Amino acid sequence: MGAGELFLERMTRAEALAILSSPRIADAGSLVSGNVGAEPAATVKTPDDQLPVLPDDHGALRDMALACTRCRLSQGRTQVVFSDGPRDARLMVVGEAPGANEDSTGVPFVGAAGKYLDVLLSTVGLGREDTVYIANVLKCRPPGNRDPKPDEIEACSPYLKKQIELVRPEALLAVGSFAGKLLTGREKSSLGKLRGEVHSYLGVPLVVTYHPAALLRNPRWTRPFWEDLQLLRDVMDASRASK
Ligand code: URA
Repeated sequence: MGAGELFLERMTRAEALAILSSPRIADAGSLVSGNVGAEPAATVKTPDDQLPVLPDDHGALRDMALACTRCRLSQGRTQVVFSDGPRDARLMVVGEAPGANEDSTGVPFVGAAGKYLDVLLSTVGLGREDTVYIANVLKCRPPGNRDPKPDEIEACSPYLKKQIELVRPEALLAVGSFAGKLLTGREKSSLGKLRGEVHSYLGVPLVVTYHPAALLRNPRWTRPFWEDLQLLRDVMDASRASK
């Protein structure tokens, strides 16, 4: 039994339920409007209004993304990187954007950062193959791995919103500040401020943590990352227990 499982063994069902009903869980609404198991938001103009209605079918949504030319990144891509993992995944991980390995394979998080992420997730009993669906804020690689630009995020985020609606995971894990800021709607908050609490993206519990590539550069962040995974695991277990 790993250390993560030992930790969970010690948590009672009541403690787990207390986490879910904790005032730490505050739904931020969302930057990308949408409806995950909730009433549709009032008619507020959002970037989504400029998009044709996205299909409620995962395959059709993927096909639409694969043909997307909504931003400049479509011109330099080798492949659109839409998602990886089962449609009925318990957890959805949201990263930033594809890198070179992902651009050439069409699969998110297959490089060194992705392999590290897989190992860390498995230490809390979240095996990538059967439990985790992974997608990025941007579906196409920014040249030279530069940061995503605001207009690229605006153009691409409706796909992510629809993916979250369709997968309806028990919880979301945003890795890195671009995913964290987008899903919490807290553009001005640092990653440090977003970590360590349970947010909510339209009813889905959301934990924000470091990007695994940052852990490779700064190994001292591995411990806090792992603590964030414990929090995530607690939330997922509490969600199961309350059903
Ligand atoms: N980094 C990300 O944010 N996403 C990937 O798919 C790969 C690296």
